Amino acid sequence: MIERVRIIGIGMGSPEQVTGEAAQALSTVDVFLVADKGGSRTDLVVARQRVCDALIPADHAYRVVEVPDPRRGPDAERDDTAYGRGVRDWHAARVDAYASVIDGLDDGETTVGFLVWGDPAFYDSTIRVVDALVERWAAAGVTVEHDVIAGISAPQLLAARHRIPLNRIGAPIHVTTGRRLVDEYDPALGDVVVMLDGGLACAELADTFPDLELFWGAYLGSPHEVLVRGRLAEVIDEVQRVRAEARERHGWVMDTYLLRQPADAPGTPGPTGFPDTGELTDGVLTLRPLAAHDWQVVRDEHNDEESLRWDFFGEAYTDDVARQKAAQARREWRSGRAARFVMVDAATGEGAGVINVMRMGPPGVGLIGYGVLPAFRGRGFTTRALRLVSGWAFESARIARLEPGHKVDNIASGKAAAKAGFRAEGRLAQRLPNADGTRSDEVYYSLTRDRFVAETLG
Ligand SMILES: C[S@@+](CC[C@H](N)C(=O)[O-])C[C@H]1O[C@@H](n2cnc3c(N)ncnc32)[C@H](O)[C@@H]1O
Repeated sequence: MIERVRIIGIGMGSPEQVTGEAAQALSTVDVFLVADKGGSRTDLVVARQRVCDALIPADHAYRVVEVPDPRRGPDAERDDTAYGRGVRDWHAARVDAYASVIDGLDDGETTVGFLVWGDPAFYDSTIRVVDALVERWAAAGVTVEHDVIAGISAPQLLAARHRIPLNRIGAPIHVTTGRRLVDEYDPALGDVVVMLDGGLACAELADTFPDLELFWGAYLGSPHEVLVRGRLAEVIDEVQRVRAEARERHGWVMDTYLLRQPADAPGTPGPTGFPDTGELTDGVLTLRPLAAHDWQVVRDEHNDEESLRWDFFGEAYTDDVARQKAAQARREWRSGRAARFVMVDAATGEGAGVINVMRMGPPGVGLIGYGVLPAFRGRGFTTRALRLVSGWAFESARIARLEPGHKVDNIASGKAAAKAGFRAEGRLAQRLPNADGTRSDEVYYSLTRDRFVAETLG
């Protein structure tokens, strides 16, 4: 009867790399459950067995039960939603398969162990499967304790073998999958570790980021281990060849790699992001890039009665929504989608409103949105913010034309834009939705870089 489940990370399959804690845990298990994935990955099964043979004392009786792994459809043909659904269905089928094996254990078999390749926290579903099992038993009135024992994971061994730290000093490390790499790669991410990459997705980055340094490793910790390191554009062909040959020889391949920007690469975001920006000030009003801690200004500006009146949906933000909006501002900045600033009263340091430049139109065009908190209205803050943001956008952010607009009845908004040098260009019929389902005309303004420069210098 089951009493305890242990999820044990066994590193990359070599007994020397199993931690002392994991070795001790191995000797407490009565039945190991191992997913039988079929196919030709016998090397991995052998490695697992080697770990057990080397580390479990001869007088400790245990058995290994192979549980046929439910089949999973081909990931490559699925979009993200279908992929997520496929993985969830597969997990549910795995939970059923393990539950039925555990239900049939002998009376004396009280401790079940899952041997997890590498570390259980890295791209492995065993912890989720065991959570579901424990919940299922709890619902049936059976208490089963469980624990997780860490193991050496592929990225750790990759770094050790290449004799490098995974991160630059004080910088982040982004760990992702081959499936996501090309969509999400951005130099601003810092060092990027890629796992679960069936087809060396980094090859698709070689033209755009040829100078990235690639640290690649396959079969880490095994006798077949192979490492390649070099400038992405120069070594990618070699890595593809080595990988294909090894796969042919062994029938399978598992590889991991790190992509690192060269040390002399500029620390600024890639070509699409807005530039790193500090404070912009005219002495009365200061703008600074909106950050997660500015969420209350985001909430109060949006939830003000006057703002909600002109809002597309007329719905107030909850604190959670405001927190999410503020927290994603830095990401939007890096991706170049939006540059969001908080307006700060320079005299008191209080948050006074928000102003945003969104890249939504053709290249070089920025859409502007803004709002000032009630306590700060009537002090010309919107006009000041528009001037500050215009100077920044034209001088630093490769913007050639800024476009604010407002619902036709929102006269105050238009006055502030006109005072800041924006010219009304016309009226766009029914462009802006209202909360009641109707639509309003929009009065459209613009300011171009050429006009801004001429008027500022003039
Ligand atoms: C399902 S994930 C499991 C990761 C594992 N839990 C860990 O901590 O490394 C499998 C991926 O890990 C990486 N991996 C696992 N073993 C590896 C090895 N021996 N050499 C290189 N990469 C490995 C590969 O990227 C592979 O696609």
